[in-house]
Amino acid sequence: MSRKIRKAVLPVAGLGTRFLPATKTVPKEMLTVVDRPILQHVVDEARAAGVEHFIFVTGRNKSVIEDHFDNAYELEDTLRRRGKMKELEALMSDLPGAGNCSFTRQQAPLGLGHAVWCARELVGDEPFAVLLPDMVTMGGASKSQCLAQCVEAYAKHGGNVIAVEQVPAEETHQYGVVAVGKDHGRDFEITGMVEKPAKGTAPSNLIISGRYILQPEIFDILGTVEKGAGGEIQLTDGMKALSSRQSFHGVRFDGRTYDCGSKIGFLAANLAFALERPELADALRAEARKLGL
Ligand code: UTP
Repeated sequence: MSRKIRKAVLPVAGLGTRFLPATKTVPKEMLTVVDRPILQHVVDEARAAGVEHFIFVTGRNKSVIEDHFDNAYELEDTLRRRGKMKELEALMSDLPGAGNCSFTRQQAPLGLGHAVWCARELVGDEPFAVLLPDMVTMGGASKSQCLAQCVEAYAKHGGNVIAVEQVPAEETHQYGVVAVGKDHGRDFEITGMVEKPAKGTAPSNLIISGRYILQPEIFDILGTVEKGAGGEIQLTDGMKALSSRQSFHGVRFDGRTYDCGSKIGFLAANLAFALERPELADALRAEARKLGL
């Protein structure tokens, strides 16, 4: 039987250069989709998949992330005294339990693979999840969220699991792309991976979309992998090396991923999540009509 996925690594040490000047002092993971920081949406998704321990790989100027997952004594006390119990309860239920968060630093943003490697001591010798915190997902018809769908596939196949999504062929050069082997429909065997393939060379139009379940052997590989695309230590290169020894399966995520590291993805996520909120949807549609949308 596959071991339970108890821990998740959330790499939040990137510079967010695509979102300057907003990200000069505010980590991009703390920008909000409607009224929740992007990172809170991602932690909620991990919790829904059964994750118990959250490992944040942070960098300089990111200490506000640590504060977000801690008690805010003055605020909580004021809410209590003013009788704003609903707001207080909402704040408290967002908090992971005592001891359920760990923080480590990536001293320099050397790439996603390097950021994940920085979590090796905190993860130890067990399979774990990785969630890219700038990718916000919304479950499709089943309402099951992306990491939960990965955990389901992991229970079936074991090994390593990656969530993928289809994009138009002309966009594949911007992403990590997988090659499809034995296909089971929703999930399939991965027979190859390539990070940012040259135009026209991608093995499929299925891109790696920011949710992974990985075996701990990835750490040894990430410790030795050379710099790849963009001069960064790429997680995809590490996974590619691991795939010669262990199985990798892809899950076609039933739902949609919003890349909140890009302006359009961020704006689309705000619209989509606001339209899911009954108290906001009608008013937002009315505003959109005023704009001629
Ligand atoms: P991105 O490449 O999207 O993030 O990495 P970035 O570098 O912050 O963004 P831009 O391109 O400059 O706008 C995906 C995720 O991996 C983390 C980022 O914080 C982001 O959540 N990351 C990336 C790290 O933690 N360390 C790195 O060295 C690189």
